[in-house]
Amino acid sequence: MIYLDQAATSFPKPPEVVQAMTECMTEYAANPGRGGHALSKRADNMIVQAREQLADFFGFDQPERVCFTANATGALNQAIKGFSFNEGDHVLTTSYEHNSVRRPLEYMKKTSGIEVDYINLETTEEFDVEAFCNAVRPSTKMIIVSHGSNLTGKIIPIDEIGKIAREQGITFLVDASQTAGIIPIHMEQMSVDLLAFPGHKGLLGPQGTGVLMVSKAVELNPIYHGGTGSSSELVDQPLKYPERLESGTVNTPGIAGLLAGLHAVKKMGLHKIRMHELHLTEHLINGLKEINYVKVYGPNKERLGVIPFTIEGIDAQEIAIILDQHYEIAVRAGLHCTPLGHETIGTSTTGAVRLSVGPYNTIDEINKTIQAVEEIVEGYFG
Ligand code: ALA
Repeated sequence: MIYLDQAATSFPKPPEVVQAMTECMTEYAANPGRGGHALSKRADNMIVQAREQLADFFGFDQPERVCFTANATGALNQAIKGFSFNEGDHVLTTSYEHNSVRRPLEYMKKTSGIEVDYINLETTEEFDVEAFCNAVRPSTKMIIVSHGSNLTGKIIPIDEIGKIAREQGITFLVDASQTAGIIPIHMEQMSVDLLAFPGHKGLLGPQGTGVLMVSKAVELNPIYHGGTGSSSELVDQPLKYPERLESGTVNTPGIAGLLAGLHAVKKMGLHKIRMHELHLTEHLINGLKEINYVKVYGPNKERLGVIPFTIEGIDAQEIAIILDQHYEIAVRAGLHCTPLGHETIGTSTTGAVRLSVGPYNTIDEINKTIQAVEEIVEGYFG
């Protein structure tokens, strides 16, 4: 199988991730922070290490404010629904957001009366920070940006936006679902107040892991209330982090895997991962662009290894099925949970086939994929 669905979840995982999870499950998967016994402490130590190392990796000096969630969606819901919005407050975001940003925002529009602008990014090849920030209103309380589009791979300059958000006292939430573990992110230097990402994509950890980092500039209200293993005598949720936002038992084996994934990423090196993915991406785009009836979307530069394409007149799902069943190439077709993104590139009605590469994909796999698309086009058009 050639796996080109890395934007959905990375696969395969490094062997160290499997080992770390197996070790956790077989040796110490007690409930962290819920007992004074040795196994609970060992589990807790690992979780503390994971918070510290993730904080360090993302340029954040408050490891206790590294909160574990089930996935990036959980982190984004917590960031958006937990923010103290008042009626009439404005949120500025982009037309590339995933449903995990759009749906909570639409929910907040209905339930809390906030206003939201989704700025269309397709007007220029370069992201026009000035035009984007011109949409800031006096009532803007939050800017939310997907660092890298899960549809076209477009990369947004979060450092420039962060600077403007900081100057204007606006909370800046970054959805790093497609970039964490691929592109360097430094929360402090980039003025990011809230950073949300999954553990199972670029960080090479298992599914069921996500993280929300909450800078001291922001206080969020919890969206879950419950047991925290501390301050049990209180009727209210503890105010201190991470308990404030972490009710219930965390995914201990998953976090062990995420920590091992982070180690694997650091061992390979972000620069090397990025260069490898760019090399595969360039080769894939050049190959696809040579094929008649194929249209490739997304920017020419400042992009991730996420490549959507269509074949004129052929249903995207049909192409994905042929790639899967005939060529054993795993891709994702359809709307990719970002109907707004598809509207932006003009593929709302047709959907697109998305190819996405990761650190373990090879140039040989890319050549086979180009060949497969060529054969599919040949089959349809002769
Ligand atoms: N958000 C993931 C994707 O883009 C699941 O496929």
